[in-house]
Amino acid sequence: MIKVNMSSPDLNDDDRKAVMEVLNTPNLSMGRRIIAFEDAFRELTGLKHAIGVNSGTAGLHLCVRAAGIEAGDLVVTTPFSFISSTNVFLFEKAIPIFVDVDRKTGNIDPELIELAVEDLMLGAEKAARWMPGHLPPHAWDNKGSLKALLPVDVFGQPADYDAILPIAHRYGLKVIEDSCEALGAEYKGRQAGTLGDYGVFAFYPNKQITTGEGGMIVTDDDEAASMMNALRNQGRAPGDTWLDHTHMGYNYRLDELSAAMGVTQMARLDSLLNKRQKVADWYAKHLSGIDEVVPPMLVSSTTRVSWFVYVIRVDEKINRDSLAKILAAKGIPVRPYFSPIHLQPYMRNMFGYQIGDYPVTEYLGNVSLAIPFSGVMTEEQVVYVCQSIKEALSNRNVMN
Ligand SMILES: Cc1ncc(COP(=O)(O)O)c(C=O)c1O
Repeated sequence: MIKVNMSSPDLNDDDRKAVMEVLNTPNLSMGRRIIAFEDAFRELTGLKHAIGVNSGTAGLHLCVRAAGIEAGDLVVTTPFSFISSTNVFLFEKAIPIFVDVDRKTGNIDPELIELAVEDLMLGAEKAARWMPGHLPPHAWDNKGSLKALLPVDVFGQPADYDAILPIAHRYGLKVIEDSCEALGAEYKGRQAGTLGDYGVFAFYPNKQITTGEGGMIVTDDDEAASMMNALRNQGRAPGDTWLDHTHMGYNYRLDELSAAMGVTQMARLDSLLNKRQKVADWYAKHLSGIDEVVPPMLVSSTTRVSWFVYVIRVDEKINRDSLAKILAAKGIPVRPYFSPIHLQPYMRNMFGYQIGDYPVTEYLGNVSLAIPFSGVMTEEQVVYVCQSIKEALSNRNVMN
């Protein structure tokens, strides 16, 4: 048996040295490392502002606040995502309206956004066109207004912004781009995170770069950036002293140890992404010929994918969960990915969602399996995972 991790950070001596250097100073927060880390993002994206925060979720939440989204307001987003892209609206008692996703990429379907936006503008009775089955009752009680779209760049592949942005412009909606999984990806040559009004990246240890925990917002909007800067720092506006708080804010600051690691990793972002690309290429090679497995699908607008996870689809004849158990017994951790947001217990309770509401999301949720992936995997490990999948599929117990 070969040991394989679900994911691993790709750290080196530069990162360790950078963290140790911070430990030899008295400045563990709000020092020069966070500024250098933010500079690296301004440089990558070409945008005016980069605001470091202590998680991707915190970054998304600050976008929600800066966009002026309040209790009862509506936003259109995707149920095929990591949970926090929806939770950040619920934090403000705003109402996420889901639309289904593209079958190939898992990214939000722009045609469905258009239908949803038109119908939300027109009124409740029209909503059946885009929301099969039922309506979220709260949506019509609160009478807020439709404020924003939140597309997610799923698994490191950007959503279809040339279709999404004109809808936002036509209806005066803000676009919050959740690029938490897509640092360094490109959409038709443009950097992920730069396509909406605000973009957010995340740095949990399974991400393309890691700071332990951490996130970064990028934007060209001066007013929003100044609000986000204040809100991440307990609501202190420029000129406020430590105990003055112009706004109701949060402690979403990124500490200097984390930022120091961020700086050294951003300096080798390309090489980190290339290593992940090499592992993805090995997977494509060694999975080819396994009929029951479909590798990740890339579309032509993705001029650079930023591999975050490697998610295969398993033929519907196969019992995905039995396959996962067999692999786990061989020391290979795998994970269904994503588990649809609308079917999480608290979402069903709050909004009355049911199985069948978002068929493509549910299909992807049922057949997708994230297999071990990181930039430090060896080809030997990749071969072991692929051979184990092949062997497991020949076991009659995995048939549905
Ligand atoms: C799509 C997406 N959005 C948001 C987040 C939240 O980031 P964090 O875990 O840093 O809060 C993640 C992280 O996994 C993510 O994948």
